[in-house]
Amino acid sequence: MTQRIRKVVFPVAGLGTRFLPATKASPKEMLPVVDKPLIQYAVEEAVAAGADTLIFVTGRTKRAIEDHFDKAYELEVELQAKNKLRMLELVRSTVPEGINCIYIRQGEALGLGHAVLCAQPIVGNDPFGVILADDLIDGQGEKVMSQMVREFDDHQCSLLGVERVPKEETGSYGVVSAQEFADGVSAVDAIVEKPDPAEAPSNLAVVGRYVFTAGIFDKLRETKPDPKGEIQLTDAISSLLADERVLAHEFKGKRYDCGSKLGYLKATVEYGLQHPELGAAFAEYLESRQG
Ligand code: G1P
Repeated sequence: MTQRIRKVVFPVAGLGTRFLPATKASPKEMLPVVDKPLIQYAVEEAVAAGADTLIFVTGRTKRAIEDHFDKAYELEVELQAKNKLRMLELVRSTVPEGINCIYIRQGEALGLGHAVLCAQPIVGNDPFGVILADDLIDGQGEKVMSQMVREFDDHQCSLLGVERVPKEETGSYGVVSAQEFADGVSAVDAIVEKPDPAEAPSNLAVVGRYVFTAGIFDKLRETKPDPKGEIQLTDAISSLLADERVLAHEFKGKRYDCGSKLGYLKATVEYGLQHPELGAAFAEYLESRQG
């Protein structure tokens, strides 16, 4: 029977220390790129890919995420009374009608793998997507989760979103060894978490987009914590390879690492330039600075 991706998991419990003090009391996923928080871009990507159940794995100081996707009664009443209908629509449309948002607390910071495992009671035996909101990807035509869901429809197996990175950067990513068999699609035969460039099996880095079969949960449960006490998703993927086919999908688009200040600033500039209301004026401003 063909399975479809309906559920997407958003691990959002991370501390966001690289953005302190901005993230002292509010989640890094709520940092705005122009006028939308990072997590909303991620949610829009999941919904565009056909998801109807969004599972947020949250932690302390993350309540703003729940509020963002909830009804904002007072604000809505006020905007209605002032007849600010466009703004009312913006406030109401953070989550489209018919989409279920579910929140699970990851009580302890035990790593990305543990965060994904926390979603198991809701995901059950279904295949599911994972989006890391701080990898903001402009799919330039088709959002990355939609690209991956299409691959899943064809192959019915786990998929990792990957990108070629400069060899000296392999230490920041999960890195795969994979054999390409179709345009941009490869069969993964090994994966290593954050290898030194000299030991990296390739420069094909895993970015924050995954599709998994439920088989990943058994592997996560068996995965031992790393020396830092974290359960690494990469280690579970590595054991999954022994039992199941895993593919790497080289996405089409441009990624901004909004987990770093420089990547975040680049995203702000690019999304500012693309913004329908601000783009032209912003471009003019940037040009005027070069003179
Ligand atoms: C995590 C994963 C890593 C992956 C990366 C993508 O690392 O552990 O395998 O390549 O996300 O953004 P983190 O960036 O959380 O250190």
